[in-house]
Amino acid sequence: MNAIEIKGLSKTYRGKRGARVEALVDLNLDVKAGEVFGFLGPNGAGKSTTIKLLTGQLRLNSGCAMLFGVQVSDPDARLRLGYLPENPSLHGHMNAWEHLRFVGQIHGLDAQRIKRDSQQILELLELDKDAKRPVKGYSKGMTQRLALAVALLPDPDLLILDEPMSGLDPLGRALVKDIIRDAKGRGKTVFFSTHITSDIEAVCDRIGIVVRGRLCALENVAELLREGVEGYLVRYADKLGCQHEDLIVRDRLRERLDSLLASGATLDAIEPHRRDMEAYFLQTVKDAEACLS
Ligand SMILES: Nc1ncnc2c1ncn2[C@@H]1O[C@H](COP(=O)(O)OP(=O)(O)O)[C@@H](O)[C@H]1O
Ligand SMILES: [Mg+2]
Repeated sequence: MNAIEIKGLSKTYRGKRGARVEALVDLNLDVKAGEVFGFLGPNGAGKSTTIKLLTGQLRLNSGCAMLFGVQVSDPDARLRLGYLPENPSLHGHMNAWEHLRFVGQIHGLDAQRIKRDSQQILELLELDKDAKRPVKGYSKGMTQRLALAVALLPDPDLLILDEPMSGLDPLGRALVKDIIRDAKGRGKTVFFSTHITSDIEAVCDRIGIVVRGRLCALENVAELLREGVEGYLVRYADKLGCQHEDLIVRDRLRERLDSLLASGATLDAIEPHRRDMEAYFLQTVKDAEACLS
């Protein structure tokens, strides 16, 4: 079963003085259950609009979207959903414990489970020491972590996260990647948006690149990285023991290795030299923008 199905989704906003902003144009996308999907795009591409449509915060103009086979207009579509919004708004006077208790109660979890799981999640997100402080004193990163804790508490089958790494330091980003990997390991589906390509490689099964509201690329990350191997960095010592490092293009690897070995060299390492994910993203965006203008 697909966790997310989007068919022909379009959304036009009414901007200032009635100007029309076409935020999404005929978007089609399926995300399989158990998949980690990275929704990549520059600022203003339509990522948050897609997520707001999926989470029932905006009405679709046309097309349809379903979560686990349930139309997003039906509140039941959100029963298995954990959601991290782009700009989480928490209650300033409440502390982290109170937020999690509140969310747990809304999801009908029993008090014991709320307490146990809240403790675990607060520790995981390194918020346990600050969990009794009102959140109005939290930094941006702490607010982001608590909002993520809120999304995780009901242990949902589907996590939709709008820029989950934004506002986090490198440790926080690594933590979020671990949480995504752990969710996948437990059979959960994760759909998250980002504009940072290094967030993608480590965790995603597939990515979609959206530009000006249109899906311009849909890729399997492992294949993309495999195809992206442009050559190999070969480290070797020649027969006199001097160390060398050569970048050998993909098609000539065999021939070069044969001749190195024949010359009496010893190989130390052969590392794939990949096309940079960032370069791929930038090129896709540039090509799409050229096509659309
Ligand atoms: N409430 C709104 N009213 C008018 N235009 C909007 C509104 N929200 C978003 N937009 C416009 O829709 C486009 C897509 O925005 P958004 O989905 O937030 O992009 P992203 O999350 O990829 O940065 C942008 O051009 C943005 O300015
Ligand atoms: Mg956004």
